[in-house]
Amino acid sequence: MDYQVTVIGSGPGGYVAAIRCAQLGLKTAIIEKYDSLGGTCLNVGCIPSKALLDSSEHFHNAAHTFKEHGIDIPQPKVNLKQMIARKTDVVKQNTDGINFLMKKNKIDVFHGMGSFIDKNTIKVSGKEEKKITTEKVIIATGSKPASLPFIKIDKKRVITSTEALELTEVPKHMIVIGGGVIGMELGSVYARLGAKVSVVEFLDSIIPTMDSTMGKELQKSLKGLGMDFYLSHKVTAVEAKGKEVTVTAETPKGEKIDLKGDYCLVSIGRKAYTEGLGLEKAGVKVTDRGLVEVDGHLRTNVDNIWAIGDVIKGAMLAHKAEEEGVFVAETIMGQKPHINYNLIPGVVYTWPEVAAVGYTEEQLKDQKKEYKVGKFPFKALGRARASGDTDGLVKVLADKQTDEILGIHIIGARAADMIAAGVTAMEFRASAEDVSRMSHAHPTYMEAVKEACLAATDNRPIHM
Ligand code: FAD
Ligand code: NAI
Repeated sequence: MDYQVTVIGSGPGGYVAAIRCAQLGLKTAIIEKYDSLGGTCLNVGCIPSKALLDSSEHFHNAAHTFKEHGIDIPQPKVNLKQMIARKTDVVKQNTDGINFLMKKNKIDVFHGMGSFIDKNTIKVSGKEEKKITTEKVIIATGSKPASLPFIKIDKKRVITSTEALELTEVPKHMIVIGGGVIGMELGSVYARLGAKVSVVEFLDSIIPTMDSTMGKELQKSLKGLGMDFYLSHKVTAVEAKGKEVTVTAETPKGEKIDLKGDYCLVSIGRKAYTEGLGLEKAGVKVTDRGLVEVDGHLRTNVDNIWAIGDVIKGAMLAHKAEEEGVFVAETIMGQKPHINYNLIPGVVYTWPEVAAVGYTEEQLKDQKKEYKVGKFPFKALGRARASGDTDGLVKVLADKQTDEILGIHIIGARAADMIAAGVTAMEFRASAEDVSRMSHAHPTYMEAVKEACLAATDNRPIHM
C-alpha cells in the first residue's frame, strides 16, 4: 500500500486528522480538490468572515463610537475593495500556513477530486490522474450551502455566504433568508457598512438553537444597528430581475408580503458534501439526510474507513471537526480518545458576541431537570462601562441539588474568548460556587461570569 492513512478533504477536520496521524508515525496523504488547502473554514468560512467582521467593526466604531471616546475624525468612508483585499490576504496567510504544516509533518498533498475505486484505492482526478492505495481512509469532505427547491442561487443577486464574502459594493438592501449564524454574522457586516438588512426567519427566534435569552438579546442589539426582523415568516418565492430581488414570504397570519432589495443572502443551513466521492464503490452508507453514517467511534460501515466533521452528524463547527480528526487518528493507533459533545462551545461573532456551552434552559426543561438560573448584566460591570460595551449578560444554569454548572450562555463583548473558561469549568464539573470562589482579575469581563455564578449559587451577586 502507498499509504497507511489517506485523508480526503483538507478542512479543519481533514488537515488536523492528517497532522495527528503523522505525529503518531503513520505514513499519511491528504487529497484536496481545490488548489488551496484549509477547506470551507479557511477559504470561505470562519477566517474570511471574521476578517470582514473585524474590518466592519472598526468602521462602525470609527463612524459611531470614536466621538464619545473623545476622538474627532472626519466622517469615515468605506473602501470595500480594500476590505475584501485584506480579507483575501488574511485567507492566504492562513492557507499558506497549512501548506507549511503539511511539509513540516511530511504529509503528501494531492490536489484533485478524490473518489473511491474500492475501499483501499482512491483515484485523484486533478491536472494529472493518480491512483493511491491506502490501508485506511478518513473522509473529511465537509459541506456546501443548502437552498430551497424554488430558489435559484444565481451567485450575483441571490447569493450564499461564499459570494457575500466577495461583494464589490455595499448592498442598499440585503434580504437575508435564515436568522442563523451566517445570517447574523454576515448580515451585521453589511449593516455596519451602511446597508439596510432585513432578516426573514421561519422560526419565532433568531439563532434558534441557542438559549432563547441569547436570541432575544441579540435581536435587540442588532435592531439597534438598524437590522429588521421578520420572524415566523415562511419564504415562498425569490425572484431576481436585473438588479432587483423580490422575496415573498407568508406572515404568521397567512398573509403575503413582498420584500424588495438588491441582494438576497440565502443562509438556511448547510448540507453534507459527498458528490463525486464514489462512496458506493467502497460500499459506504449514507443516512437519509445525505450524511456519511458513522458509529460511536466515527467508523463507517466499512471497517477501514472513518468520517469526520461537517459530512457526519452533529454541529457543523470547525473545532468539532478538529476534535474528531484527532479522535480518529488516535483511534486508528489503538488509543482510547473521548469527545464530550455536550461541551463543544458555540459562538456567534456578532457584536455583541454570543457564546455558549452545555445545556440551554429549553433543553433542561425538556429533560425535566431541576435547575437554578444566575444572571448578570454587563451594564453593571465596571470594565464594560469603561469600554462602552454594556450590551448583554451572562446566564449560568446550575443543577438545583448539586450546584454543578449545566450551561453557560454569554452575550457581550469578548464572549467568544470568555467561553473557554466555561468549558474548562464544566470539563472539571465545577459547581457555580466553585467558580464564584475563584479570584477573577478586576476589572475584566470575566467578572460577569463570577457574578452570574454567585447569582446561581445563592442569589448573592456582589455588584447587583
Ligand atoms: P470543510 O472545511 O468543508 O472542508 C472539506 C474540504 O474537502 C474542502 O476543502 C473540499 O474542497 C474538500 N473536498 C470535498 N470533496 C472532496 C473530494 N471528493 N476530493 C478532494 N477534496 C474534497 N465554524 C466555526 O467553528 N467557527 C466559525 O467562525 C465558522 N464560521 C463560518 C463562516 C461561514 C461563512 C461558513 C460557511 C462556515 C463557518 N463555520 C464556522 C463552519 C466551518 O467552516 C465548518 O464547520 C468546517 O469548515 C468543517 O470542516 P470540515 O473539515 O468538516 O469540512
Ligand atoms: P443555521 O443552521 O445556523 O441557520 C439557519 C437558519 O435558517 C435557522 O434559523 C432556520 O430556522 C432558518 N431557516 C431554515 N429554513 C428556512 C426557510 N425556509 N425560511 C426562513 N428561514 C429558514 O445555518 P447557517 O446560518 O446557514 O450556517 C450554516 C452552518 O455553518 C451552521 O450550522 C453553523 O454551524 C456554521 N457556521 C458557524 C459559524 C460560527 O461558528 N460562528 C459561523 C457561520 C456558520
